[in-house]
Amino acid sequence: MLHRLGVAAVLTALALAGPAPVTADTDTPAPDAPGRPRTAPVVDVAHRGGSGYAPENTLAAIDAAHARNASVVELDVQRTEDGELVIMHDTTLARTTDVEQVFPGRAPYDVADFTLAEIRRLDAGSWFDTAYAGEPVPTLQEALDRLDRREVGLLLEVKSPVLYPGIEADISQTMARNPDWTASGARGERPRFAVQSFDWESVERSHRLMPDVPHGLLGVVPEDRIADYAEWADQINPNHTRIDADYVRAVHDAGLEVYTYTVNEPDDMRAAIAKGVDGLISDFPDVARRVIAEETGAAAGQARPWTAAAVLDLARY
Ligand code: G3P
Ligand code: CA
Repeated sequence: MLHRLGVAAVLTALALAGPAPVTADTDTPAPDAPGRPRTAPVVDVAHRGGSGYAPENTLAAIDAAHARNASVVELDVQRTEDGELVIMHDTTLARTTDVEQVFPGRAPYDVADFTLAEIRRLDAGSWFDTAYAGEPVPTLQEALDRLDRREVGLLLEVKSPVLYPGIEADISQTMARNPDWTASGARGERPRFAVQSFDWESVERSHRLMPDVPHGLLGVVPEDRIADYAEWADQINPNHTRIDADYVRAVHDAGLEVYTYTVNEPDDMRAAIAKGVDGLISDFPDVARRVIAEETGAAAGQARPWTAAAVLDLARY
């Protein structure tokens, strides 16, 4: 019998899997089209970790997401001066650390101008709440290790890759040292790791380095370009205010998924689900999970009903 946490990993792998292929020359409506039964659960993705509850992009934020049963965590990755991959949203350290106090005179405090040893001296928690004083900026490897222990999936955003030439190769080398993250499941489930960026050329470079890993395009791909990107991309991930049901249907018809950000209000979550999206990226994964269950009648991130895992996963709720 599958261990419950092992099941969660399988579920997350399934959650990151793409919808069944849809051919354009059939009268059959696309799966997951608005108003039609879904073939897969809507996935809850904890934005920057559980960033509504803990300082964004930290191990504490991963723990906060896990504590709320998040299926997948979204994190941002950048590179230090000495070539280490760290988890950080802004391209400067100023907003979410005490860098200005620790290193006065080093403005503009770009991530790329500091070594990992220097970044290790920073407090990435106090700005959010003094309860998190001393929370460090994690490396990508540390985030993977924490997520692995927590059996949570990862949607990794490559932030401003133009500042970090070759970062896609650095990420793929890190992932090669963590083969469980990029392995497909025994039934062909795709990895519980996906990559996204607003820089679509970077996403394509990453796809070529890790072709088995799902890749997402952040933003809105013009409808007349979706088919081109569908040749290698797996997701289109726009702001929830920028899409309607027709757009989601067009993406699905091309065989891609839609994970929409950053959806924090229940009414906005309901509206996005009604448009047919596959995933909600939210600072509040527990709220997203509750709304997904209410709106779809299925637990967020739950496996497709034909897997035994779906039954076992009920223990999580
Ligand atoms: O996952 C999408 C979202 O994270 C993109 O926006 O600025 O929060 O990285 P941002
Ligand atoms: Ca992000």
